[in-house]
Amino acid sequence: MAIILGIESSCDETSAAICINGEIRSNVIANQLVHQHYGGVVPELASRAHQQNIIPTIQEAISNAKISKNEVDAVAFTRGPGLLGSLLVGTSFAKAFALAKNIPLIEVNHMQAHILAHFIDDPKPAFPFLCLTVSGGHTQIVLVKDYFDMEIVGETLDDAAGEAFDKTAKILGLPYPGGPLIDKYAQEGNPLAFTFPEPQIPGLNYSFSGLKTSILYFLKEQTKQNPHFVEHHLTDICASVQHRIITILLGKLKRAAQEYAIKDIAIAGGVSANSGLRKALQELADSQDWKVYIPKFEYCTDNAAMIAMAGYHKFLKQDFVGQDIAPLARMSF
Ligand code: KG4
Ligand code: ZN
Repeated sequence: MAIILGIESSCDETSAAICINGEIRSNVIANQLVHQHYGGVVPELASRAHQQNIIPTIQEAISNAKISKNEVDAVAFTRGPGLLGSLLVGTSFAKAFALAKNIPLIEVNHMQAHILAHFIDDPKPAFPFLCLTVSGGHTQIVLVKDYFDMEIVGETLDDAAGEAFDKTAKILGLPYPGGPLIDKYAQEGNPLAFTFPEPQIPGLNYSFSGLKTSILYFLKEQTKQNPHFVEHHLTDICASVQHRIITILLGKLKRAAQEYAIKDIAIAGGVSANSGLRKALQELADSQDWKVYIPKFEYCTDNAAMIAMAGYHKFLKQDFVGQDIAPLARMSF
């Protein structure tokens, strides 16, 4: 019997989850709406909100799982990567809880946890598989050889895919985080209405900063001729930008699958909630004879269920850390 408490606080979501013998029994997420007014996450405000949310979130996760806090066998927490002030809140709580209850402490890499979210529900992928991890801070193609044996085979050289969505939304005057809104408007637009350039980056790496610049110039030109251009063409602009982000993402993923001769393909991270990406990946999979793994929406964006699941697999290996552990804003694997 193993009951793991998972804690996530790397960015602007405070989350706690309970995993019992590899099964997620609760997953509570407290969102921070305060950042909407600022067009992005304000680190200082995020830390303060985590401080306020962490105890009620953990209490709710424990009560939803119908256990008592005394039954928890180990506590797993996000060590990094993320905002340091935010990570400190989850890390400090996890350390204090483990010390008070005299139970093991487990560090979890947030990006690995996004991938391990695929082990929450069936069907679970078989090793080795390739995972396209697309979030607000990262864009990586990862060769997953085992639970904690992962190799980044391609990644962005500048902006992440989520940033490309969020920055486009900001340019269009949409609130933060703009990714889900672009997704919503894109569903009513024509993805071929406007053409944005595809970056020419060698190998399996990505670049998204040029896309932002080309959108800025395009809109500047268009609004010179028609000041209401954005208003009148919002759905078509969103659909066209989203289409370009998806073709960039899937182009390199297809190449990676060919290079590594792997047909088990997964996506993970906040941007994997994008309906256009999910649909396009499924279509590509059908044409390439891939087996694809697309997480449930609740496990795409930041959540503690994935931290508890990663923690469970480390618990099985008795992979624990001491009380001298500190969070890391940058953390590779
Ligand atoms: O994984 P995540 O929740 O946090 C990080 O670890 O960064 O990812 C957040 C990112 C944001 O950039 C957000 O705009 C994007 O995921 N996102 C989406 C959608 N839902 C979330 N982007 C496009 N379409 C969506 N439906
Ligand atoms: Zn994330």
